[in-house]
Amino acid sequence: IKRVTTHVLQKMKIDGEKISMITAYDYSMARIFDDAGIDVILVGDSASNVMAGHETTLPITLDQMIYHASSVIRAIKRCFVVVDLPFGSYQGNSKEALNSAIRIMKETGAHGIKIEGGEEIIESVKRIISAGVPVMGHLGLTPQSIYKFGTYAVRATEDAEAQKLISDAKLLQDAGCFAIVLEKIPAALAKEVAAAVHIPIIGIGAGNVDGQVLVMHDMLGINKEFKPRFLRRYLDLYSQIYDATQAYISDVKSQDFPNEKEQY
Ligand code: KIV
Ligand code: NA
Repeated sequence: IKRVTTHVLQKMKIDGEKISMITAYDYSMARIFDDAGIDVILVGDSASNVMAGHETTLPITLDQMIYHASSVIRAIKRCFVVVDLPFGSYQGNSKEALNSAIRIMKETGAHGIKIEGGEEIIESVKRIISAGVPVMGHLGLTPQSIYKFGTYAVRATEDAEAQKLISDAKLLQDAGCFAIVLEKIPAALAKEVAAAVHIPIIGIGAGNVDGQVLVMHDMLGINKEFKPRFLRRYLDLYSQIYDATQAYISDVKSQDFPNEKEQY
């Protein structure tokens, strides 16, 4: 199997082959995604929401991200694995950012890190890249800044924020980022950014750019309530797991399970 690298991802943009990316947080799911041929797995700090049940991504720690990432990495044969630097592990101090990135690379075996923001964190981005660690940017609706935004609504609908987003994307490219995630911004703006930079732009709620990323729980329909416009659900796993669980309960209660063949 030919491994996906930053060079492969760059070539995909040049060739117009779209990049498929999904989040994973554990060994078993990562193994299925890798076997199925996904290009990039993101060990997202959305683990804070979907794995730990927090309301935001802010509480998850670097140690917890390292636990998830090392579990994912043990499953991987082909895809490129990126790990989010969590809130508080990189902002405002490039030395701390580098230390956090190094811990992730050393302790998990991941292939790169992702970090939210543009100009504000550019020193951290440069310092991490200077150590040879591939960095993916993340602009638009950056969930670690949710209390600054005050809403999960679409970002960069106003000209000033749109202009800053374009200039941040160029800054991240010039700093050496290998790709950028754009989250929940107008499709026309995302297209403009994808045309303005040579690195791959991966969208979530950002229209048809160089690739797409979804949170696995959303893609698989594990979250019953979460149905934003940008989401396409490929399964309704909540209902399937719910029904399977009720069938199991019923079989246990009725003593249908275990039958003669299901025992020693
Ligand atoms: O943490 C995450 O799942 C993410 C994606 C939504 C891009 O950052
Ligand atoms: Na994230």
